Amino acid sequence: MNILGIETSCDETSAAVVTDGAHLRSNIVASQDEIHSRYGGIVPEMASRCHIERIQRITETALSKADMSLTDIDGIAVTAGPGLMGSLLVGLSFAKALSHARKIPFKGINHLEGHIHAIFLEKKISYPFIALLVSGGHTALYDVGAVGKLTLLGTTKDDAAGEAFDKVSKILGLGFPGGKAIDEISKQGNRNAYFFPRPNLGDPSFHFSFSGLKTAVLHQRKKEPHANMADIAASFQEAVVDTLVQQALKALEFKEYQRLVVAGGVAANSRLREVFSEISAKTNIEVHFPSLSLCTDNAAMIAALGFHYLKNGDHDTLSLNAFATQRLNFE
Ligand code: KG4
Ligand code: ZN
Repeated sequence: MNILGIETSCDETSAAVVTDGAHLRSNIVASQDEIHSRYGGIVPEMASRCHIERIQRITETALSKADMSLTDIDGIAVTAGPGLMGSLLVGLSFAKALSHARKIPFKGINHLEGHIHAIFLEKKISYPFIALLVSGGHTALYDVGAVGKLTLLGTTKDDAAGEAFDKVSKILGLGFPGGKAIDEISKQGNRNAYFFPRPNLGDPSFHFSFSGLKTAVLHQRKKEPHANMADIAASFQEAVVDTLVQQALKALEFKEYQRLVVAGGVAANSRLREVFSEISAKTNIEVHFPSLSLCTDNAAMIAALGFHYLKNGDHDTLSLNAFATQRLNFE
């Protein structure tokens, strides 16, 4: 079954073709970083306009890279939320139009569940597992029992991990988006130069909080304007990684699971990958990370997950609406 995936939830316009939920035929991602970096953050109206300009060409490219045409496509999977409403509507309307005109079924996919299932494009993993979802808009721990069967264990009380990276990058003058920039500069820094706070939300809490950490970096920067930027970045990154790792380990222990999937843009962080690799080498905990290109937003993860719904005849009708904020917690 060939599924065309479409993803426009934020500032990446992406289309992909995936066969039987696991075989990646093409995955085209057009970033808008150049447009938004001038403003130090995503400008929603510009993101939607840019999706409109690009969506058709990106889809045609994904089909031609997969050596297919629309007649080879058996179903369309499209991100329905959460995300920026204007951006979501571009992808969803486009998918609905294709579905209607070509009489191909379509399914609206939850972007967060898509991130968690990106790993299935590269590995076969058994359920159940804990998913640590760390992106620009979300930071959460889920107990994942199957496709469509997820229980939220904890979430951030304020900023998402990726948002903290982006805000601290701004404070340090490293530009937008910030995660990659902090990751890079931290390689030259001393991660023990400063001790930034690791929020303690009580035991057994699986929640997160990153806004105090961001404020601590801001104070440090003001106190010592000429301090080594790489040391501050590396110490900040260490505090985020430490917090994510501790909470994920706590959730694994609580559920008595030995399997963790880390997903979302922040899963591309090299220090986070390093620390979890060390843990899995020393213990019998399996830690799975998608390849870097499948951590950040992409349509392949949406197509891979969509297959599992569409193969069972689970599709949507044209009345489906986009949703900006719905939490992923369903059984
Ligand atoms: O999943 P994603 O592409 O979009 C959302 O759904 O939010 O995640 C984007 C986030 C941004 O905040 C970006 O700064 C962060 O992921 N990010 C990273 C790295 N690469 C991207 N954060 C830390 N280290 C990285 N290497
Ligand atoms: Zn995302």
